[in-house]
Amino acid sequence: MGKLDGQVALISGGARGQGEAQARLFAREGAAVALGDVLEEDGQRVAESINDTGGQAMFQKLDVTEASSWQSMVDESVSQFGRLDIVINNAGIARVNLIEDSTLQDYLDVILVNQLGVWLGMKTAIPALKEAGGGCIINTSSTAGLEGYSGLGAYVSSKFAVRGMTKVAALELAPYNIRVNSVHPGPIDTPMIRDPQIQRTDDDDFDIAGTAPIPRVGHVDEVAKMMLFIAADATYSTGAEFVIDGGVTAGTMVARPRD
Ligand SMILES: NC(=O)c1ccc[n+]([C@@H]2O[C@H](COP(=O)([O-])OP(=O)(O)OC[C@H]3O[C@@H](n4cnc5c(N)ncnc54)[C@H](O)[C@@H]3O)[C@@H](O)[C@H]2O)c1
Repeated sequence: MGKLDGQVALISGGARGQGEAQARLFAREGAAVALGDVLEEDGQRVAESINDTGGQAMFQKLDVTEASSWQSMVDESVSQFGRLDIVINNAGIARVNLIEDSTLQDYLDVILVNQLGVWLGMKTAIPALKEAGGGCIINTSSTAGLEGYSGLGAYVSSKFAVRGMTKVAALELAPYNIRVNSVHPGPIDTPMIRDPQIQRTDDDDFDIAGTAPIPRVGHVDEVAKMMLFIAADATYSTGAEFVIDGGVTAGTMVARPRD
């Protein structure tokens, strides 16, 4: 018996990184997973490998900034698997530049994917979730939705917005038995954080995690397990913020114990 037997989960940005790990775990727990991403080859490969190992998966090209792309993603998921129960708005991008040096387009590029993409995902999926009698939306924010980071003005703006729109959707959708929560990862080891613009070393011992109380980056499976908990077990949580950051937002480590 899987925790998600009979359920259908749509995951944006499912071609790699955290989305891929979530897709694999949800499929192992019995869900049929619909993966959407702009990376078609990677997405197809993940879906095929889930199907080859006894799971149920489909991939469709999805650009989260396009309303029509979202509509066809939701329609195809329902048409292939019969219903929609869970949506993980996971797709995202990060760009590093100071506000003073950023162009309007730099700002909009991030806002369109990280902020508009989540809003469109929720809006488009709501009728199918209602049709299923209820469900669960999980929006991937960040610790950058809880505190500021220099050089990440657009990213931080978008992730604070995701945290806010999650609460609005939670209020609006509770009457329909649809829970909506946000997840706030700290540094997680994915291609995003290994981007040289964000992480200047190839070391496994990332600088970015050096000051965290738990002094390492997080693993994608750790985030996937939290997503599974929210989808399957957190039945009294909606409008909530689930933080998974090694203690980054707990405060500042001034001194560490000697032993
Ligand atoms: N890695 C971290 O440290 C970290 C920390 C906090 C939050 N996050 C968030 O977690 C989520 C997943 O990121 P990740 O770490 O797995 O990085 P990633 O770059 O490996 O994965 C992001 C995925 O989103 C996809 N994507 C980008 N633009 C898209 C678009 N327009 N339409 C559809 N898909 C698109 C990418 O192709 C990629 O597959 C993102 O929202 C990110 O902001 C990451």
